[in-house]
Amino acid sequence: MEELKSEHRLNRVLGPVALTSLGIGAIIGTGIFVLIGVAAHDKAGPAVTLSFALAGIACIFAALCYAEFASMVPVAGSAYTYAYATLGELFAWIIGWDLILEYGVASATVAHGWSHYFQDFIGIFGLSIPEIFTKAPIDFDPATGVMSMTGAWFDLPAVLITAVVTIVLIKGIKESAGFNAGMVIVKIAIVLLVIILGAMYVNPSNWQPFAPFGYSGLSMFGQTLLGETGTGGAPVGVLAGAAMIFFAYIGFDSISTHAEEAKNPSRDVPLALISSLLICTVLYIAVAAVITGMVPYDRINIDAPVSSAFKQVGIGWAQFVVSLGAITGITSVLLVMMLSQPRIFLAMARDGLLPKSFFGAVHPKFRTPWKSTILTGVFVAVLGAALPLRLLAELVNIGTLFAFVIVCAAVLIMRRTNPQAERPFRAPLVPFVPIMGIITCLVLMFSLPAENWLRLVVWLGIGLLIYVLYGQRHSVLNNPKQ
Ligand code: ALA
Repeated sequence: MEELKSEHRLNRVLGPVALTSLGIGAIIGTGIFVLIGVAAHDKAGPAVTLSFALAGIACIFAALCYAEFASMVPVAGSAYTYAYATLGELFAWIIGWDLILEYGVASATVAHGWSHYFQDFIGIFGLSIPEIFTKAPIDFDPATGVMSMTGAWFDLPAVLITAVVTIVLIKGIKESAGFNAGMVIVKIAIVLLVIILGAMYVNPSNWQPFAPFGYSGLSMFGQTLLGETGTGGAPVGVLAGAAMIFFAYIGFDSISTHAEEAKNPSRDVPLALISSLLICTVLYIAVAAVITGMVPYDRINIDAPVSSAFKQVGIGWAQFVVSLGAITGITSVLLVMMLSQPRIFLAMARDGLLPKSFFGAVHPKFRTPWKSTILTGVFVAVLGAALPLRLLAELVNIGTLFAFVIVCAAVLIMRRTNPQAERPFRAPLVPFVPIMGIITCLVLMFSLPAENWLRLVVWLGIGLLIYVLYGQRHSVLNNPKQ
């Protein structure tokens, strides 16, 4: 709180509607427009509606815990800051480093998804870009674990959209929030269109069998504990579907990274966190029910499931509108994700864990963390353009679930260590809510293909090395006089 008195603070301009729309802006995107296809086709069948409900419930537990912290510590930094305040510097560093997976790597995944929708869309008008600029040079098949060369150089549209978003973000939070609000209206309208128009084409017999892959799908480090095993040894079933479409919910927590820019953070941030999540959960369950009702689950298209469902039932114009909506929706996800990453860097730099002159620099005119915004843009563009993103997308889920587990645990710890601290918003039913948050997120982590654990450990290991080489030596806690 003391830090906020310095001149390096951000502008307080966001009200409850802007915050909620930033949340929805970050949530509805690649998950509902793309991943729902694989989840229904390969993991859960029509029971993907239950997968959405389950992942939504796990997120609601976590959101209540985020809300408690966001009201107590309304500064930039989200889970990183909460860990710093409760679990200490090392844990905070680990979680901050982990959040790069959530925001930085997710942005790259989303930029890549944007590119494919964009290419589909211009294809409707008979346009295309040269083959060498259409995708990343390497690809990865998760079922076989084999990397292959695609023959392309890099994904040009992913680089271009990242550059545009980076420029908007440097310009200012208010402009970014305004840009976002417009896109959120468009994408909610498209999602409602999908639900209402799609409902007229539902054939209830497509919902049978309801759960062709079973209701579970839990494995532990490669050993199936509950349910069936699919191709490549990955778990299948409702839980496995939930672990995959969890991606669709990622982003609600980004609201907490804007607490420092909220006009009334202790009231509006919890409100926005919970309302954006509830709105999206209801919309997702409805979309999942409609899509699996329109098309038999084994005929759902994997690349563009929502727009293709309309093509499959013979409404071509809706396919056009839906793909345009998907491009818009995915752009706003990218905007909010890339808005969040530099704010976490800023919080880490304030604590001396990253070089302050770079990551702590706030632009004198725009009042945005401009240097780290540019760095984030370059990181996202390089990953989005060049790397096999199917591999990276799973990392995003495990990294985010890990962050949620820590935040739920931190609420429990803080209630014990600082019972008297002022909590403008209190998570209800403690310890039930945080404990359920921890359990549900761990179950989802175990329902992901096992190699993700290894990748998470390697990523955290690299982070630890940087901490030992830089953060530990320069941290504010270890150098109190600086
Ligand atoms: N929830 C975001 C999406 O689905 C990350 O695109």
